[in-house]
Amino acid sequence: MSKPWIFICPSSRGIGHHLTRYLLLHTPSTVPILATTRASDKAATKYRLLRGLSPSPFSAHPPAPEPDLHALSERLHMAGDFDVTDERSIEAAYRQAATLFPPDTHHLHLAFALPGILHVEKTLAQVTYADALETYRVNALGPLMLMKWFADFMPRKMTDTSASSSTRSSSSSSSSSSSSSSSSSTPSSSTPGGSSSSTDSPREAAKSANVGGYGGGDMENLEAAAQAQRQKHPNQDQNQNQNQNQKRNQNQSQSQDRKADNNTNISSSSSGGGGGGGDSSLHYLPTQSIWVNMSARVGSVTDNRLGGWFSYRSSKAAVNSLTKSLDYALRMRGGDKAMAMAYHPGTVKTDLSRDFWGSIANDKLFTPEYAVEAMARVVLGAGLEQRGKVWDYNGEEVLP
Ligand SMILES: NC(=O)c1ccc[n+]([C@@H]2O[C@H](COP(=O)([O-])OP(=O)(O)OC[C@H]3O[C@@H](n4cnc5c(N)ncnc54)[C@H](OP(=O)(O)O)[C@@H]3O)[C@@H](O)[C@H]2O)c1
Repeated sequence: MSKPWIFICPSSRGIGHHLTRYLLLHTPSTVPILATTRASDKAATKYRLLRGLSPSPFSAHPPAPEPDLHALSERLHMAGDFDVTDERSIEAAYRQAATLFPPDTHHLHLAFALPGILHVEKTLAQVTYADALETYRVNALGPLMLMKWFADFMPRKMTDTSASSSTRSSSSSSSSSSSSSSSSSTPSSSTPGGSSSSTDSPREAAKSANVGGYGGGDMENLEAAAQAQRQKHPNQDQNQNQNQNQKRNQNQSQSQDRKADNNTNISSSSSGGGGGGGDSSLHYLPTQSIWVNMSARVGSVTDNRLGGWFSYRSSKAAVNSLTKSLDYALRMRGGDKAMAMAYHPGTVKTDLSRDFWGSIANDKLFTPEYAVEAMARVVLGAGLEQRGKVWDYNGEEVLP
């Protein structure tokens, strides 16, 4: 049986940082993670990833036990000096991965290609060749080069991936105990697509606000808000978390339902809950291997109603195209054992969106912690019918 592992690039800041922390806590303890950083001092990045790790603030009751930091440290491998614009650094990490996880005994089960930069261009006159080129190098060529080297680790048709679908956290009791709380969410009682009202979801809220035609907080949503309301100050982080907690309970039903469908073999196999559970304690892996490219709703040509953001927007459109092509490649060699998808996280309170924090409604600006929980729910719950497409934090498709 081939052993699964997880790849996350990058892990130094923002969504990648929080996702790495989240997956350390919420995927099976037997599954190693390789995370990248541009820093030479990868130990420092690792320290920051492990520092203060504790169960998610969004976890349902009862609270999970404190994690075993030593075990998590053993599980977390770092690739330093890793720059997606430098193919040699990617190749070096590829070799590191091949040593850590020999392909004849291991396969890459979850891969997250997340690098991204934003140079804001409201008008064509603001476009500079250098910034546009850098944007394409990081946002589009970055994922492409990651795909070139690391998709090689994804399973082939002959790979015995049965270990992945039965992999659960062995350490934890923490997983079992916290997962068991998921039963209170009664995921199986909802219908796919969500039986709960979505009236209050960020997506619906944004729709009714009719800001740029975007769902629940996108970069373009930010841009429109920034133009209209530059004086506003962010002062409501606490409310924001509370709001997001409430919305989470409503939004999660859709992706959880999908997850319950796709992982019934897992969720039904253990009394620990987890699969299809309603809280964040997702101590399992999806049945099929999944490659995730980080997109953005502004990368949708269909949904482009404001223009602007020329380089960033088109770089994310390229990501969507690359994802489709990668999925065909994975399908050719892996059949149903591997798929690719692209993902839109909503507008997330990271350095990338910092200039707009003060101009966006709190319920449309996700904390990174909230964003990665939503991402995990959608990605870990993804089924093969979702392959090659772009999905948002509500588990809904973003048309290319
Ligand atoms: N935040 C949002 O609202 C939002 C919305 C839609 C989509 N996204 C997408 O989500 C992804 C993550 O963004 P974020 O919000 O987490 O941004 P962030 O906080 O600014 O983090 C960006 C990350 O990308 C890394 N990076 C930049 N250039 C790189 C390079 N050449 N090689 C390797 N890594 C590089 C940075 O590494 P260093 O720490 O070394 O600089 C950092 O870890 C991006 O693809 C972004 O487009 C974000």
